[in-house]
Amino acid sequence: MYNGNMDTFEKFYFINTYGCQMNIHESEKIAGVLEKLGYFPCDAENKADVLVYNTCCIRETAEAKIHGHIGEAKILKQNNPDLIVVVCGCMSQQSGVATSLKRRFPFVDVVLGTSNLDLLEQAVVDAKQKKKTVNTDEKNYVLVNLPKVRTSRPNAWVNIIYGCNNFCTYCIVPYVRGREHSRPIQDIVSEVKDLIAKGYKEITLLGQNVNSYGHDLDDGTNFAQLLNEVAKIDGDFRVRFLTNHPKDLTDDVIQAIANNKKICNSIHLPVQSGSSDILKAMNRKYDRDYYLQLVEKIKKAIPDVGISTDIMVGFPGETEQDFLDTLDLVKKARFSSAFCFIYSRRKGTVADKMDNQISRAEKGVRIKRLLEAQNVITKEISQEMEGTLQRVLIEGKNKKYVNTYCGRTENGRLVNVKSDVDLFDQFVWVKIKKFQSATLWGELQKED
Ligand code: SAH
Ligand code: SF4
Ligand code: F3S
Repeated sequence: MYNGNMDTFEKFYFINTYGCQMNIHESEKIAGVLEKLGYFPCDAENKADVLVYNTCCIRETAEAKIHGHIGEAKILKQNNPDLIVVVCGCMSQQSGVATSLKRRFPFVDVVLGTSNLDLLEQAVVDAKQKKKTVNTDEKNYVLVNLPKVRTSRPNAWVNIIYGCNNFCTYCIVPYVRGREHSRPIQDIVSEVKDLIAKGYKEITLLGQNVNSYGHDLDDGTNFAQLLNEVAKIDGDFRVRFLTNHPKDLTDDVIQAIANNKKICNSIHLPVQSGSSDILKAMNRKYDRDYYLQLVEKIKKAIPDVGISTDIMVGFPGETEQDFLDTLDLVKKARFSSAFCFIYSRRKGTVADKMDNQISRAEKGVRIKRLLEAQNVITKEISQEMEGTLQRVLIEGKNKKYVNTYCGRTENGRLVNVKSDVDLFDQFVWVKIKKFQSATLWGELQKED
């Protein structure tokens, strides 16, 4: 926007974010760097002076979508040759991809990997002088020291551990995010204290496997201890965390959740498959019985706990019986919600080299059957919540209905509630009145 002074032409940035919460949080760091350079956020790609694609490569569908989207930037660049196009994140970190991106999209100015966002500031400065940067060298993480522009109030994301050591045979993450690397506990605690002082009401601790937090620090800290420390901080706030690996979820973590009011009674516990043979082939290091026992233990220790999960269908060699085992586990575990995926071959992973791949058609049939099974359970659990009183943190307005706000219960369920007064960013008590599949509708209760 031109305001009459040639030196104060305002410049804008727009970030396209794909993938998981880790990437959403990293986009907050990208925004921090760009705002430090004097750029302002804008609401459309064609208004931007810097256009960022923070990418994901977890499945082929994600990658195909991103390729299509980056392709569209060609026209924007033709209309505005000074536009700076940045591609970063997991997709660009894959071996050989930086080179192929350069070839396929020659108009891209900056390509960075997952561990060198600290180079973004200089890369944008250089791009203004038409100098390109391509750097996906792997190194230890320094991202944490970047400025952040938080966009998810009342929630704030906080990294606790980077990378992944698990090498599940289907998964690309260990190849693009490097090895596990925990942040010192005092850094995390002071970041959380600062966020609470700034009025954030929900803190989500982030890691590919939060349960292995601390093992590389050699000072005896672990995830349970971190939860207990964070819960000691004064203030009215609650804590969530993502993601748990079943093999590492210890009793003291379950106790930390049960004992601390501030830690939400909600656990995302990806199971991936209900078949012990498939779990073995996936290198998940637990079997079906272990998982079901763990679910029982959690439900016994933590009242009203919400357990959500990730499930995959069509892993190489998955027989009809293996799939039926998954359906059966879904019925036994009774997840409050499940993210269901079709297995996607990822180059460089062990499962990609397996010769017993499942046909696309069969995968399509299985995912439908799985979604149907989970939908029945989601509805049943919604129904069980009818009539209950829930403390809900209001996250925003419902875009479809007037004077309607939405938020989450402590155990992770989405609730809509009508109100003439603005409820954003507040904890409110809500009585659950009805439900639509996964979404609950509640009535605002007066505080006494
Ligand atoms: N670190 C987390 C998951 C990160 S990826 C964990 O271990 O639970 C999020 C989900 O994507 C996974 O749980 C898995 O269900 C799914 N996923 C990962 N790789 C996939 C692939 N190749 N095809 C399909 N889904 C995949
Ligand atoms: Fe991928 Fe497994 Fe690591 Fe999760 S634990 S990021 S699924 S390799
Ligand atoms: Fe995607 Fe990378 Fe997250 S591959 S799911 S953005 S860790």
